Amino acid sequence: MFSKVFVGSDHAGFNLKKIIIEYIINNFDVEVVDKGTYSESSCDYPDYAMEVCREVQKYPNSVGILICGTGIGMSIVANKFENIRAALCSNSTAAKFARLHNDSNVLCLGGRIIGQETAKDIVKTFLETSFEGGRHQKRVEKIQEIEKKVKAC
Ligand code: RB5
Repeated sequence: MFSKVFVGSDHAGFNLKKIIIEYIINNFDVEVVDKGTYSESSCDYPDYAMEVCREVQKYPNSVGILICGTGIGMSIVANKFENIRAALCSNSTAAKFARLHNDSNVLCLGGRIIGQETAKDIVKTFLETSFEGGRHQKRVEKIQEIEKKVKAC
């Protein structure tokens, strides 16, 4: 199990964020940190993606959950951060393989796309599934090598 879960959203993900935070607190023995937004007022998803990704980079064995309207904007931003492997999931099968094969450390959800129960199911699977390693380890390492090459350009 992870040590900490950092959760962030924009206004379009605000309601689902509340539901997901409550769900995690009630069902998992893990620290949950709400990185905002804290109201339904219009705001910009890149700001919250950055807040969450910086925390995930800082704390080993932590993960992030980012929610915007579609989950797309959050995933685009999150994948700009070194060592962040963000996965936009709309079902639990995608969440399972994001963890098993990609060692994903940030889950992105579309608050205007998926229902609450599906979202809970995705979160449960993401939090309970471990990276398989093996042949997938070297693929994740290749991502890290690419990050380094891109940074050096
Ligand atoms: C906000 O209207 C919306 O654009 C945002 O939540 C997200 O869906 C962007 O990808």
